[in-house]
Amino acid sequence: MRKGYVWNAALWVLLVHPALWAAGAGEALFRTHCAPCHGPKGEGGRGADLAVRRLPRAPDDAALSAIITTGIPGTQMPATRMTAEENAALVAYVRSLGRTQAVRAPGDAANGKRLFQTKGNCAGCHTVGGAGGRLGPELTDIGTRRGPAYLRTALLEPEAEVPENFASYRKLIYTPDNFLWVRAVTADGKQVSGARVDEDTFSIQIRDASDRLYSFRKDELRELHKDWGKSPMPSYRSVFSESELQDLVAYLASLQGPS
Ligand code: HEC
Ligand code: HEC
Repeated sequence: MRKGYVWNAALWVLLVHPALWAAGAGEALFRTHCAPCHGPKGEGGRGADLAVRRLPRAPDDAALSAIITTGIPGTQMPATRMTAEENAALVAYVRSLGRTQAVRAPGDAANGKRLFQTKGNCAGCHTVGGAGGRLGPELTDIGTRRGPAYLRTALLEPEAEVPENFASYRKLIYTPDNFLWVRAVTADGKQVSGARVDEDTFSIQIRDASDRLYSFRKDELRELHKDWGKSPMPSYRSVFSESELQDLVAYLASLQGPS
């Protein structure tokens, strides 16, 4: 019996203890570096829901490790510097999130899809699977990029996450992280407002709400206003009932990209 005890203690020190250390370290690293965007349990928020069985962009541990090191260029997902041991502990922890059954967004996704196309008129501004408007960002894989809580806020307070200004190199970052609403007045008094599509030192391209694309030389414009933090998307707080909101969020969360 005594021999068994010693043997167990040795096993604990050799095998179980390092594993527990790694799990604890992984959790602590996650809380510091990842939870602000991915939620305390990886349920998603500004960042993707990580408590899923398959991560589309991190199918194996090597890919997950690389994403942590380099981030996902063109998105808000940042590069995070850490030691190889810390990286490994974090990979193991993120994988463990996918094994616990997370609470899925409640609601009826099929009804959400119907509301998207009818009452919400969302397709007027958003493309899903090739069809729809282009004023707002494409939503074909929105369920892999944002968590349910964020999606809900996007519907209730569209301006909550629109950047107030933008410091990083603009050409590499896509909307909505780089969304800018602009208003221009031409020399002959014509007013145009819409989303900035492209801009350089001398010119700017703008897409208006009826999907018309304009290109101006800046020295031709009498006025150019950049409304950082503004969104043309209306709040749906008074449009949808609570259960309709849940259905829409369930539908958006189900959009996982081209299969
Ligand atoms: C500033 C916010 C932010 C932080 C901090 C952040 N992420 Fe992300 N992460 C995102 C966003 C946004 C996406 C979705 C990017 C896109 O649009 O494709 C993402 C995507 C991912 C993906 C891809 C998910 C998939 O579906 O394949 C993984 C994995 C990931 N993050 C892990 C992490 C880990 C681990 C950390 C901590 C080291 C972390 N992220 C920190 C915002 C963040
Ligand atoms: C008048 C055009 C317009 C309409 C109508 C509209 N949106 Fe948007 N939406 C936008 C624009 C522009 C953005 C980017 C700026 C922002 O975040 O508000 C956006 C952002 C979003 C985002 C955040 C995307 C991300 O990756 O952060 C979601 C989700 C969204 N819309 C869903 C919807 C749904 C669902 C509806 C219908 C109920 C809808 N939108 C109706 C223009 C619109």
